[in-house]
Amino acid sequence: MVTRPRLFQFDGAVSREPVNPHNGFYMQDILSVSQFNRENLAYLFDVAEEMRELIRRVGACDLLKGYVMACVFYEPSTRTSSSFIAAMERLGGAVIPITQGVQFSSVAKGESLPDTIKTLEQYSDVIVLRHPEVGAAKIAADVAEVPVINAGDGIGEHPTQALLDLFTIKEELGRIDSLHIAMVGDLRFGRTVHSLTKLLTMYDVRLSFVSPEILRLPLDLMNEVRGKGIPVYETYDVADVIEDVDVLYVTRVQKERFTDLNAYEQVKNYYVITPELMKRAKERMIVMHPLPRVGEIDPAVDQDPRAAYFRQVGNGLYIRMALLAAVLGKA
Ligand code: NCD
Repeated sequence: MVTRPRLFQFDGAVSREPVNPHNGFYMQDILSVSQFNRENLAYLFDVAEEMRELIRRVGACDLLKGYVMACVFYEPSTRTSSSFIAAMERLGGAVIPITQGVQFSSVAKGESLPDTIKTLEQYSDVIVLRHPEVGAAKIAADVAEVPVINAGDGIGEHPTQALLDLFTIKEELGRIDSLHIAMVGDLRFGRTVHSLTKLLTMYDVRLSFVSPEILRLPLDLMNEVRGKGIPVYETYDVADVIEDVDVLYVTRVQKERFTDLNAYEQVKNYYVITPELMKRAKERMIVMHPLPRVGEIDPAVDQDPRAAYFRQVGNGLYIRMALLAAVLGKA
């Protein structure tokens, strides 16, 4: 019988032992912002600041070497998918990208979501999922042993966007408590609004909701906000709030969620933030947008130092690096 040398001796291998299993995120599915509290948010923001520093100084590290993230997107994405991929790669991990449209995966052959997830978990340590149906991430999490991160489930939630949004507010304005935040646009279908609103109820803030009648915030969410004792103001007109707000959070009307395209046509250009409008805003305030924008913010506003939306995009990388490191127990 031929003896052969072992393929490898585990030399230089990275330990799978968590360095911090009690960080509140270790091996947790990230499905909704309701699972966070002020304490673990502060921890995550701290790690995110370290990630920013890490990129500035050295660009990348080996923290997640040996780990694989599956990135499965059943809906279009630019920022969420590419920032998750960049986050994993900058931390030394690897990625299975199913982001070019699931038409190139077995989903196109009719495979179910649970079967796709049960397959991908055989190859990966964490699964990032975007799906058009509310609750899809929960369904995936129920069948998967590895943590599932919700990257948007229909009109439901987009928890990692809310994390980077909140982090942006804190970085830009130095605090979250005592701010007046106005959400503008599609408050009915916008999942980023739903998640950020819930997250903000953990702080001492005032919230204004600016939308046309058919795009008002869902009633159950409005009741949840009111139930937490948050002062709330609703209006159709952004001029009603522009002079007082610290954060103007503008959103796209979610065309793909409309069943009646005539209704979409009526509200699509309802709000446009212009340099003229910005003249009435406070000197120290910020304009945010989860992006993509399709006309809600005049590109001329980009020159305004208060336009924070591209800095907000950048923060998505640090937050997702922090989250991946935390979920895998390495932060
Ligand atoms: C948002 C989304 O997908 O919900 N985009 C994002 O993730 N930054 C907002 C949108 O599509 O309008």
